[in-house]
Amino acid sequence: MPYAISRRTLLRAAAGSTALLLAGCDGDTPSPTPTSSALGLRFPPNFVWGASTSAYQIEGAAAEDGRGPSIWDTFSHTPGHVRNGDTGDVAADHYHHLPADLDLMKSLGLTSYRFSISWSRVLPQGRGAVNAKGLDFYKRLVDGLGERGIAAVATLFHWDLPQALQDRGGWENRDCAGWFADYAETMFAGLGDRVHTWLTLNEPKTVVQVGYLFGAHAPGFRDPAKAYVAAHHLLLAHGRAVQAFRAAGRGRIGAALNLAPAYPDDEADAGSKAAAELADGYENRLYLDPVLKGEYPKDVLDDIGPTAPMRAAIRDGDLEVIGSKCDVLAIQYYNPVFVAAGGRYVSKLETSDAGWQQIYPQGFTDILVRVKRDYGDIPLIVTENGRPSADQIGPDGQVHDPERVDFLRDHLAAAHRAIQDGVRLEAYHLWSLMDNFEWAEGYGQRWGIVYVDYPTQRRIEKTSARWYREVIARNTV
Ligand code: FCB
Repeated sequence: MPYAISRRTLLRAAAGSTALLLAGCDGDTPSPTPTSSALGLRFPPNFVWGASTSAYQIEGAAAEDGRGPSIWDTFSHTPGHVRNGDTGDVAADHYHHLPADLDLMKSLGLTSYRFSISWSRVLPQGRGAVNAKGLDFYKRLVDGLGERGIAAVATLFHWDLPQALQDRGGWENRDCAGWFADYAETMFAGLGDRVHTWLTLNEPKTVVQVGYLFGAHAPGFRDPAKAYVAAHHLLLAHGRAVQAFRAAGRGRIGAALNLAPAYPDDEADAGSKAAAELADGYENRLYLDPVLKGEYPKDVLDDIGPTAPMRAAIRDGDLEVIGSKCDVLAIQYYNPVFVAAGGRYVSKLETSDAGWQQIYPQGFTDILVRVKRDYGDIPLIVTENGRPSADQIGPDGQVHDPERVDFLRDHLAAAHRAIQDGVRLEAYHLWSLMDNFEWAEGYGQRWGIVYVDYPTQRRIEKTSARWYREVIARNTV
């Protein structure tokens, strides 16, 4: 029985129950991170500084200009799924604030912006007729980035599958890989050379774990039999899109994988070490191996075993498709996992307000170095890294988030160490440019460096935004 579960998954499945987190905690609580100060770490010339968002989390305009519903519209509108009953109907209303948001990016000095395309805004039924107004929004976005000298990093799928395709079985249906490749082709043709880097899937692991195993994200299943079939079809979709790109696309392409280094809870315990190795399989190798080596990790397939008909879903030739050569790998890093004998995940370190997130900058260095060691010298970009904090507008009208500054500084120092170790890391995009709809947590968790005052949609730079502007200007942390 597959047992590796990230803390995020556990907590989300428990609908944010902190009791579960506390009950699950053992080990030492380290002292708080030190207050921020410049470290004097200079990044390579041409290092790319960016920020990330995703469509459903910021755009709003959910039913405007012909957009079709996605599974996240359905899920968030179903009572009990999202904290406070929040939905992405309006979100940060980015759809209507595009020019001002582009100016904000420019004012921060960003040289890259990583966003996602809402599949159902462009193809309301997921396939078939293109919604010209939807496509036009993304044309205006990439043109606006180009005018401001900001590279466009476009993700094709950040979890918001068109509902019409879910109605046909979604990722459990092998045809979904083909529908995705057709949609990808539409975007390659529609946005052409205005996109610097294409990313196929955002975090297939989270879709599998949180969407299909623990039901805390859309489509809300709790079913291993579905989960690992969906995993294979997601990966197949990635490979089919890479192939379509080779035929018609311009720029470069890769996938965005969230990686979590897995450490034994107790180095001296053989059971803990073995469990950490298998957890590494579920957290990392299940996605890295097929995408970068064209093979599935045998230990994970064996462990999934008869609980899911995944092996039966794998057809001859699929792994060659999935392993189609990528130009770049996008890595997202939030937390490590510590694993006890038997597979239980242990919380040992300070966590952020997202209780699943243990804060461990060294894990960032470790995973970057490890990817280079085990998967070769593919160019790497970081497309997500960040933490939430309990931000609010202070009496001075400002939003102070020193804990986010500390987090970003310590993680950038960790990335710098990896670069010193020879890792080919080209870019860093923090999560997130602005506060947004944080999935099952709704608007209750703020992850942005820019505060969004939702009632007025006013944007207010937090301390971390001003700090990041300085970092970018000096190319130094
Ligand atoms: C990542 C997601 C992103 C956001 C951050 C906090 O897993 O890709 O959309 O939710 O976590």
